Amino acid sequence: MKAETRHVAVRGGSIAVHVAGEGPPLVCIHGFPLDHRMWAFQEPLADVATLVMPDLRGFGESLGAGPIESIRQLADDCAAVIRAVVPGERAVVCGLSMGGYVAEHLAVHHPEVVRGLILVDTRIEADTDAARAGRRDLAARVARVGSRIAAEAMVPKLLAPTSDQGRRSPVAESLHRMILEADPATIQQALAALADRPDMTEAMRAVRVPTLLIVGEEDSITPPEVMRSIPQVVPQASLAVLPGCGHMTPMEDPEAFNRLVRGFLSGIPAAS
Ligand code: MLT
Repeated sequence: MKAETRHVAVRGGSIAVHVAGEGPPLVCIHGFPLDHRMWAFQEPLADVATLVMPDLRGFGESLGAGPIESIRQLADDCAAVIRAVVPGERAVVCGLSMGGYVAEHLAVHHPEVVRGLILVDTRIEADTDAARAGRRDLAARVARVGSRIAAEAMVPKLLAPTSDQGRRSPVAESLHRMILEADPATIQQALAALADRPDMTEAMRAVRVPTLLIVGEEDSITPPEVMRSIPQVVPQASLAVLPGCGHMTPMEDPEAFNRLVRGFLSGIPAAS
């Protein structure tokens, strides 16, 4: 994707933001422990939206902003991105998994910059004790061995058995490479922030913007059941389940994913 890279000031330094296309802003927030390159298949959306794709602090090209402290801090960074890249505008914010947690915090704490939400393969609840223990264990292994261990642990769980033709499929290769290239210290900081993130169920009741939920039918990390409960909390939310996909719907079935996003964008009134 031909994107222009901008550097946006955030608390502690600056982060890299990749901007492409024309039209109303669509902010795409990557999952853990990836970077903006996971949105490569969303390039066709640049004909209907200005794609604004940050590398969250510590990831991708955003190595100059200090450590990750919390999901709220990452949302504050993204609010700064929207104000700097599309001043005076409200954006549709699309986040996958960890990016979804960041998008939820943006909608709750910075509603003035959000006009729509796309929550992808994510959840609104906090971690269970078992999930927190799993994150502590992975962080300890990354500290000992490096990012390779995160790639080996995660890639097989990210893709649906039916979409992945083994770890050598191009999508699996690209995920593997992104995780290998991720900074081990950032991975550990992000794991701590993920484990500490609050339950957003009550806070999300106040969200009043159009919301699209997308999940892979075979997502084993945030299965369809966990997203089915969100419309009971966010009245304007509707759910689409993509068959043959796991946790990485935008990469596993880009055509279906992009079709859903286009339909959603065209249904949001410009001034809402
Ligand atoms: C992600 O894809 O961002 C992670 O799976 C998030 C998580 O582990 O909760």
